[in-house]
Amino acid sequence: DWTPGNVIADQVAAIRAQVGDARVVCGLSGGVDSSVAAALVQRAVGDQLTCVFVDHGLLREGEVEQVERDFVAATGVNLVVRDERKRFLDALAGHSDPETKRKIIGREFIRVFEDAARDVVADAGEHGEEVKFLVQGTLYPDVVESGGGEGAANIKSHHNVGGLPDDLQFSLVEPLRTLFKDEVRAVGRELGVPEPIVARQPFPGPGLGIRIVGEVTAERLDILRQADAIAREELTRAGLDEEIWQCPVVLLADVRSVGVQGDGRTYGHPIVLRPVSSEDAMTADWTRLPYDVLSIISTRITNEVSEVNRVVLDVTSKPPGTIEWE
Ligand code: XMP
Repeated sequence: DWTPGNVIADQVAAIRAQVGDARVVCGLSGGVDSSVAAALVQRAVGDQLTCVFVDHGLLREGEVEQVERDFVAATGVNLVVRDERKRFLDALAGHSDPETKRKIIGREFIRVFEDAARDVVADAGEHGEEVKFLVQGTLYPDVVESGGGEGAANIKSHHNVGGLPDDLQFSLVEPLRTLFKDEVRAVGRELGVPEPIVARQPFPGPGLGIRIVGEVTAERLDILRQADAIAREELTRAGLDEEIWQCPVVLLADVRSVGVQGDGRTYGHPIVLRPVSSEDAMTADWTRLPYDVLSIISTRITNEVSEVNRVVLDVTSKPPGTIEWE
C-alpha cells in the first residue's frame, strides 16, 4: 500500500542502512524537495545531519524565516545559516545581462556552499567523525530525465549542488528518488514540514535576482519583495493557488513611466504580473485571473509600494514567452 507513512518507514530504514554512523550534510533552499529530503534524513539519523542554508538575499518575504525558524522548530534539524546577502549584492553590482546574473549567482552559491560544507567536515573531524554523505532532493522525474544512473546528480539548477571539488567527496543520499512531486508533498506533511514550504509553488534557484529586469540592488529587491508579497497574499485570499502553477512578479527596473498620485506627478517603475497555468513548466498558458482580483492587486501595489506607479499583466503563453522574464 502506498501511504506517506509507509514511504517514511521504508526510507528511514534505507537511510540508516546506507549512512551508518557517518555524518551527513544537506543544502536547504527553502523549496519543497530539499526540505522534505532533509526532514526525512533527520527522522532517520537525527543529529548526524547538518543542514546548510545560504541566505543569498534573493528570497521572497518570509521565506528566510520559514527555513530558519519554522522548519527548524518543526523538524529539529541542526542548521547552519550563512548570511551572504552582501556578497551576492556585491557580485551582482553593475550587471544587468540575464545570463551573466544567473552565472554569478550560481558561482557564488557553489562557493559559499562548499565553504560551509568544508566547515562541517572540519568540525566533525575534530570529534573523530567522518562526513561522507550529501543529501539531494532528486525526484523521480529528475532521475528519468538524467538517464537514471545511480547517484546521477542532476545539475539542472545551481541548487542541486553538483561540481563539488575533488577533496570533498560525498556519496549521495537521495530519499525522494522514487517519488513524484505530489507524493513528496504528502510525505512532507506527514513529517510535519510547515505548510508554506510543503505547498510552495516552483521558485527559481536564482530567485528574485532574475525577476528584476536590470541591475539587482538592495532597494530594488525591497520594492519587488513588497509587490510580490501583496500579489501572493491576494491570490491566496482569492483561493487561486491551486489553479495557478506559479505567478512570477517582475520589476522593470530600467523602465519608468509617468503617473499621477495625490496631486503630484510620479515617475515610477512598472510591475509585471505573470500568472501561468501549466502541467510541467515546459509549456504554459497565461492564467485568466478574475478582473476583480487583478484590480485589488493593482490598487494595493500602487498604493503601498511608493516606487511603483503602474501594474501590467503578461498575456503571453509559453512558447513563445518563457515563464520567467530572464
Ligand atoms: P522558464 O522561465 O524557462 O521556467 O519558462 C521554467 C520553470 O523553471 C523555473 N526556473 C528555474 N528553476 N533554477 C530553478 O530551480 C533556475 O535557474 C530556474 N530558471 C527557471 C521557473 O520558475 C519555471 O517554473
